[in-house]
Amino acid sequence: MSSEKTPETTRHIPILLEPIADFLFEGIRALPEDATPGVILDCTLGGGGHTARLLEKLALIPGAEKHLVLGVDRDPDAIGRNKIRFKNELSAGRMEIHHCAFSESMKIIGSRPIYGMLADLGVSSDQIDSETRGFSFRFNSPLDMRMNTGSGEPLSSWLSQVSESVLADVIWKYGEERFSRKIARRIIDLRSRGEMPKDTQGLADAIRSVFPPKLRHQGLHPATRTFQALRIEINEELKELETLIREGFPKTAPGGRIAILSFHSLEDRLVKEEFRNRDRYELPFKKPLQADEAEVTMNSRSRSAKLRLAIRKASEPEAPQSRS
Ligand SMILES: C[S@@+](CC[C@H](N)C(=O)[O-])C[C@H]1O[C@@H](n2cnc3c(N)ncnc32)[C@H](O)[C@@H]1O
Repeated sequence: MSSEKTPETTRHIPILLEPIADFLFEGIRALPEDATPGVILDCTLGGGGHTARLLEKLALIPGAEKHLVLGVDRDPDAIGRNKIRFKNELSAGRMEIHHCAFSESMKIIGSRPIYGMLADLGVSSDQIDSETRGFSFRFNSPLDMRMNTGSGEPLSSWLSQVSESVLADVIWKYGEERFSRKIARRIIDLRSRGEMPKDTQGLADAIRSVFPPKLRHQGLHPATRTFQALRIEINEELKELETLIREGFPKTAPGGRIAILSFHSLEDRLVKEEFRNRDRYELPFKKPLQADEAEVTMNSRSRSAKLRLAIRKASEPEAPQSRS
C-alpha cells in the first residue's frame, strides 16, 4: 500500500516553531497602530507549519489582520496543499499564496512594506518522503529532484550532459563527499557505456560501488551526501539564497525581522556574513539557535538546523564623501 498521504495533509514537522513564530509576531506587535499595511513573507511555505502558528498568534493582536502573510513555494504540490490548508485565511484576506521561487517574490510584493521574512531552506519531509520525486534513494523513482516539477532540468537530463569535472566539483562542494572524484568517474563511465542509472536506487548503487567494501554498509548510506549535493545543484539553492539576501533583505522595512533556518554550512555562512553588517542589522543572538535535545529526539531533521535572526535597522549611515 502506498504511504503517500492525501494532498491536503503534510508530513513536515516545523523546526524551531515557537522561536520563529514568536520572533516574527513580536515584530508585528511592535508596529504602531497606523502602520502601513504590509506583509510577512514566508519564502518557503512547505507544509505551512510556521505560517499556521504565526497566523494563530497574529489573530491575538487587534488590527493585525491588515498585515497579511504572503507565502510562496516553488513546489506545486506544496502550493496545492496550502491552498486547502489555508482556505479560510485566504478567503478572509489574511493570506496570499503564490507559486514561485522566493528569488522572484519581490515582484509580487511590490511596494508593500515587509515587516517579517522567514526562509526555512532545503526540502520538506513531503518532498524527501515522496515515492515519486527522486529526492531519496529509499524509494525507487525517476531521477528528477526538481522542487518545481514544472520548470528547470531534471537530474536525469543534467547527468546526461554534465562533464566529469563539474560533477565531481558539485559533489565535493555541496556534499563535502571525500569520494567525489571516484563517484563522478563511475557515473560518467556508466554513461559512456550506455549504462547510466535511470532511477534513484540505480544511482545510489552506482555511488555505493566506489566506496571501500567496509564503508558500503555501515553508518550513513554512502549516497546520502551525493544526493544532497545533486539536489542543491538541480535547484540552484545557493543562488536562490544569494538573490534573497541581495534583493529581498534590503526590502525589509526598518524594524523588519528576518529569520533564516539553514541546513548546510554554505547557506549558513552566506547568512552569517550578511548579518555581520551591524549598520544594517541588530542581532538578538550572536550565535545561531539550534534545536534542543527534546526536539531532535522528536524530529531528527532538526539536528543540523541553524536559525539566524536579525532585525533591520532604520537606515544605513551615509558613506563618507571622498575628497577630490
Ligand atoms: C523545509 S520546507 C519548509 C517547511 C515549512 N517552514 C513548514 O513549517 O512546513 C522548504 C520548502 O521550501 C521550498 N523551497 C525551497 N527553496 C525554495 C525557493 N528557492 N523558492 C521557493 N520555495 C522554495 C521547498 O519546495 C519546500 O516546500
